[in-house]
Amino acid sequence: MLELRINGELHQIDVPVGRSLAQTLRESLGLTGTKIACNEGHCGACTVLVAGVPTLSCITLAHTLDGAEITTIEGLRDHPLVDAFVRADAVQCGFCTPGQIVSASALVAAKPSPTSDEIRHAMAGNLCRCGTYPKIEEAITSWQG
Ligand code: FES
Ligand code: FES
Repeated sequence: MLELRINGELHQIDVPVGRSLAQTLRESLGLTGTKIACNEGHCGACTVLVAGVPTLSCITLAHTLDGAEITTIEGLRDHPLVDAFVRADAVQCGFCTPGQIVSASALVAAKPSPTSDEIRHAMAGNLCRCGTYPKIEEAITSWQG
């Protein structure tokens, strides 16, 4: 039995050894805001926070995380970054957006007014096939309104 605190709520779940955190979130817990795209650790679509650190959930095995504190995009629904992404029109197909917002939330928690270089560095692991990078940077720059 695995115990995870997800978005502040305690969950006890049976997870077979070898199942990814992304699969566990989506299939065992119905938290489908976390997306799976490459499923190989290349794109960042599946990013969640584990103890506040952006983590690729498609290549993280759930059974290694007993007792961990996890934040998914569902736990960030009231974060001002969500509005900032909408205001900046930083969403096209939207598939990468949950992972982008999760990574950005860790950045602004550590550095509320990041420079352009800091944004690019922190967001380098989150790919966007629609090419919304300038808008994503604008959203992160203006997240405080
Ligand atoms: S789906 Fe996890 S890095 Fe691409
Ligand atoms: S908005 Fe389409 S992949 Fe980023």
